[in-house]
Amino acid sequence: MLPKEVTPRAIVEYLDQYVVGQDEAKRTLAVAVYAHYRKLSALERGEAIAKSNVLLIGSSGTGKTLMCETLSRCLAVPFVTADATSLAQTRYVNEEIEAILQRLVDKADGDARRAARGIVFIDEIDKLKASSGQANATSGESVQHALLKIMEGAPVKLGAERYIDTTNILFICGGAFVGLEKIMSRTHSFGFIATSETDNQTILDRLNNRVKPTDLFEFGLIPEFTGRLPVIARFSDLSKSMLVRIMSVPKNAIYHQFREVLRAEGVELVVAPLVFEQIAEIAIEYKTGGRSLRGIFEELMTPILYVVPDHPQIGRVEVASLFEAPRYFKRSASDPAAAERAAEKKD
Ligand SMILES: Nc1ncnc2c1ncn2[C@@H]1O[C@H](COP(=O)(O)OP(=O)(O)O)[C@@H](O)[C@H]1O
Ligand SMILES: [Mg+2]
Repeated sequence: MLPKEVTPRAIVEYLDQYVVGQDEAKRTLAVAVYAHYRKLSALERGEAIAKSNVLLIGSSGTGKTLMCETLSRCLAVPFVTADATSLAQTRYVNEEIEAILQRLVDKADGDARRAARGIVFIDEIDKLKASSGQANATSGESVQHALLKIMEGAPVKLGAERYIDTTNILFICGGAFVGLEKIMSRTHSFGFIATSETDNQTILDRLNNRVKPTDLFEFGLIPEFTGRLPVIARFSDLSKSMLVRIMSVPKNAIYHQFREVLRAEGVELVVAPLVFEQIAEIAIEYKTGGRSLRGIFEELMTPILYVVPDHPQIGRVEVASLFEAPRYFKRSASDPAAAERAAEKKD
């Protein structure tokens, strides 16, 4: 089910190719997934297991969804993503949950047994705060109860006479939990062991950073629900240097994508490091994590992509600053691509 070579370290190395930073969250998630599949093997040998579902906490746009999607690509297990907000907006929560599990079975090519060992990622779980319920919708609290049932493990009917047992499905929940910091600063008081030594300070920071179940109750998750999410991984807010790296380092980084697009036109694109810093600064102002980077970068590229196709003599484009026009350079006459493209454009 999980090949021997898929160790936590191998999972982290795979995640590193696409997700910038968030090292602790990567490790926590990798170990949780690994432990889950080792436990399933134990189960096959007839040993008892206790499942450890995972809760990912971090501001919007810090890579929670990206990390889960990347994780699903590196594991050969069925994996589906669902959104808790849509669960809270329907009157038919159970039908919606069945639909999620049905998608998991579809991902397993109809094999319900394989699906029963898959992973379900439920995003925006913090939107299920136990509070005012809207008319026509299900209150967050009752959605929590419905989810709790499948997280504890239950046979769920799919269609006419098919069932899926959810006991061994790994659930990963994610959310921004806006306001949790405030709750934590009120309830965490490990300050008394502080000394000037950095080591102790690190331990102290870790203790103070640990989210306690009581913090989650106070936020609005019911105790039974938090009890089902024993593993908690926190995502840090993205720093300027992380934002810069997101645009230029990962395999599928936006800079590589546009360099590729222009290379197909025979044009070399060079964006100066300063530009990435300027974009990162704007993104920090927007407070949407890594989410606004693509939009800003694409805006920068629009005039370039508008000009280049009509000018086959352009061989190179340089962007020195976000606030300066891009500079276009002629292709050298000896460049064979020049003649070729000039000929193409005549047709
Ligand atoms: N740590 C990161 N590494 C690489 N890209 C990131 C990271 N965080 C955010 N991004 C970028 O921002 C986008 C939104 O991130 P997402 O994972 O949807 O955030 P979240 O689920 O935490 O709200 C991603 O598609 C990606 O382009
Ligand atoms: Mg998300």
